[in-house]
Amino acid sequence: MKGIILAGGSATRLQPLSMAISKQIMPVYDKPMIYYPLSTLMLAGIREVLVISTPRDLPMFRELLGDGSRLGMRLEYKVQHVPNGLAQAFVLGREFLAGDKGCLILGDNLFYGRGFTRMLRRAAAIEHGACIFGYYVKDPRAYGVVEFEQTDANDESSLRVISLEEKPQNPKSQYAVPGLYFYDETVCDKAAGLQPSARGEYEITDLNKVYLAEGSLRCELFGRGFAWLDTGSPDSLLDAGNFIATIQNRQGFYVSCIEEIAWRNGWISKEQLHNLGKQMSKTAYGQYILSLEV
Ligand code: G1P
Repeated sequence: MKGIILAGGSATRLQPLSMAISKQIMPVYDKPMIYYPLSTLMLAGIREVLVISTPRDLPMFRELLGDGSRLGMRLEYKVQHVPNGLAQAFVLGREFLAGDKGCLILGDNLFYGRGFTRMLRRAAAIEHGACIFGYYVKDPRAYGVVEFEQTDANDESSLRVISLEEKPQNPKSQYAVPGLYFYDETVCDKAAGLQPSARGEYEITDLNKVYLAEGSLRCELFGRGFAWLDTGSPDSLLDAGNFIATIQNRQGFYVSCIEEIAWRNGWISKEQLHNLGKQMSKTAYGQYILSLEV
């Protein structure tokens, strides 16, 4: 399975912050926002990743992350000229996926919680169909919303999706669909067949509905206590930064340290890890990497 990070958009809710740079490059406490979705893909075991962004912002991501070799990964880049919907990731990404399965993550989605890696690995092992997630929120109207039923009363994971709606006025459930999706190798063909929605976008929810109609859409829930954070407004960006700072400073473990994950995944050696740490040794981040070697 390969991964795609969609890091486009104009982030109008973050102006003037976003007037000259991409939202997904802005800091969430001590690292650029895109480190968080990138680390999610890495935890899923995904080693080949396509970053999609605007003509203005793509060069900056390339400068930040390079070809991925320092992490033992392969990174590619692709411009999205018109921000016409999330499902376009699989039209732009067809060549990159080259018939493989694909995981899409939105560049501004942060996840943190116990058991996350296990869920990711399970979703990435999908043979057929698609896997999406559900997350209980107070107000789901700004999101894709999933309605489901539990088919086995004793098995919380036995969910059957009943409906999906994009930003409904009257949501049928409290469960929002986070920007993390796993698809089988039919995804590019399915995305190519979509029609734009009323607001003129190729909606990811419509792509998921194709899988739903086919009877091959799986949904898993992130439980209570799990964090799926938003970064769309100045307040939520600050909250996300404070959240990461709180966890890191309390426990001493770093959230989304991509160098650490690459090493734990066995993609880079101890020596490579050490060199990456040394390059940033003046910072707490660099010192953390150096401390991992013992
Ligand atoms: C997009 C999707 C929506 C999803 C959300 C998650 O909305 O269209 O289904 O729930 O991402 O972040 P957007 O944030 O682009 O409005």
